[in-house]
Amino acid sequence: MNKHYDNKLRLLIVDDEEGFRRTIAKRLAKRGLKPVQASGGEECLGILKQNPMDVVVLDVKMPGISGIDTLRLIKQEFEKIQVILLTGNVAVSDGIEGIKSGAFDYLTKPVEIDHLVNKIKQAFEMTRLEEEKQKEFEYRAKLEKKMIDTERLASIGTMSTGIAHEINNPLAIINESAGFMKQVVSSPEMSMFSQKDALLMGIEKIEKSIKRARKITHQLLGHVKKPESKFSEVNLKALLYETFGLLKREIKNKQININWEIDKKKNIVWSDPYQIQQVLMNLLSNAVHALSENGSITLSTREIYEDIILEIKDTGIGIPKENLGKIFDPFFTTKSFDEGTGLGLFVVHKIISNLNGKIDVSSTVGECTCFQLSLPKYTNQTDNDTPR
Ligand SMILES: Nc1ncnc2c1ncn2[C@@H]1O[C@H](COP(=O)(O)OP(=O)(O)O)[C@@H](O)[C@H]1O
Ligand SMILES: [Mg+2]
Repeated sequence: MNKHYDNKLRLLIVDDEEGFRRTIAKRLAKRGLKPVQASGGEECLGILKQNPMDVVVLDVKMPGISGIDTLRLIKQEFEKIQVILLTGNVAVSDGIEGIKSGAFDYLTKPVEIDHLVNKIKQAFEMTRLEEEKQKEFEYRAKLEKKMIDTERLASIGTMSTGIAHEINNPLAIINESAGFMKQVVSSPEMSMFSQKDALLMGIEKIEKSIKRARKITHQLLGHVKKPESKFSEVNLKALLYETFGLLKREIKNKQININWEIDKKKNIVWSDPYQIQQVLMNLLSNAVHALSENGSITLSTREIYEDIILEIKDTGIGIPKENLGKIFDPFFTTKSFDEGTGLGLFVVHKIISNLNGKIDVSSTVGECTCFQLSLPKYTNQTDNDTPR
């Protein structure tokens, strides 16, 4: 047996006949294996609870829990362990029964040691193969979920943009009419009207609601390319400066420190500055919101192959694990009615997908949150970003 197995294979031999067990263990040791030994089913299960094993060589005929029952219990509790049964040469039916119960294979006693070593080796290969299969399965499931999430968000995005467009026109009319009504109610002729104040209050409520509805439609339309916006060279550092300018007041109020770790050469992409600014604005305002006084935001860029990676890290409240999968969904917010719409990250996701980029997030509650943007150094303009 080669070194590869010697170090990694965890083997347990279970047999009530001490002499036989020891001899086999000794012979296996000579071939580089160091089996742990157990004298019966109960001891075997006890050992497995404490120490993980890859392969168990199990005698079928034992006092106490029988070999077949031990096998079933092993398979029930430790699915991944492969079991090789040792049966008496007149009890082949035990072996067949064992295979049905999940044994890897069976050998009849007396065993030929090289044959046993080979079987152990094959069983170990099987555990590794299954492990790889499991990993691949998990990877595929994760990838599929990500694809479904992206597709779902994209189709909601298209629909919501349409709705936002449709709602903008009636909103403008309501707003204009509310303004006109306010003007009429405030005129001197209405000074004697007893319900004047109640009417004004009503109009103010309408105006406040229009403001909220507008905030939502504007956010939803934020990723739609403006006719005047053209693809050009975008200097991320300059754009970040500009965006911070828009958040100046909050940054000053909270005395937030900004750490610039931006590589002069590795912060330039060919893309849509208008859309990227929407992204930065959303990410930075979220970071500022998450911070308490004297918190900090660290900005860094680097280059990986054809992409520029921009990291925006804040030392704010963090995002609980159970929310990490929801933050890109439309209308998911943990903020109050006045503070949040839950559309910022939804729009960010939409823009980044349009620009052929990627966005990832990692966070530790109470410590930090890091949004990682990956943008291609060159993005071709596509149909997605044609003006609407
Ligand atoms: N930097 C951050 N730190 C902590 N939580 C964040 C951060 N960014 C986003 N979140 C969480 O994600 C939610 C959704 O964000 P967003 O889509 O921008 O909507 P909104 O800011 O209107 O709530 C926020 O309500 C907040 O719970
Ligand atoms: Mg936000």
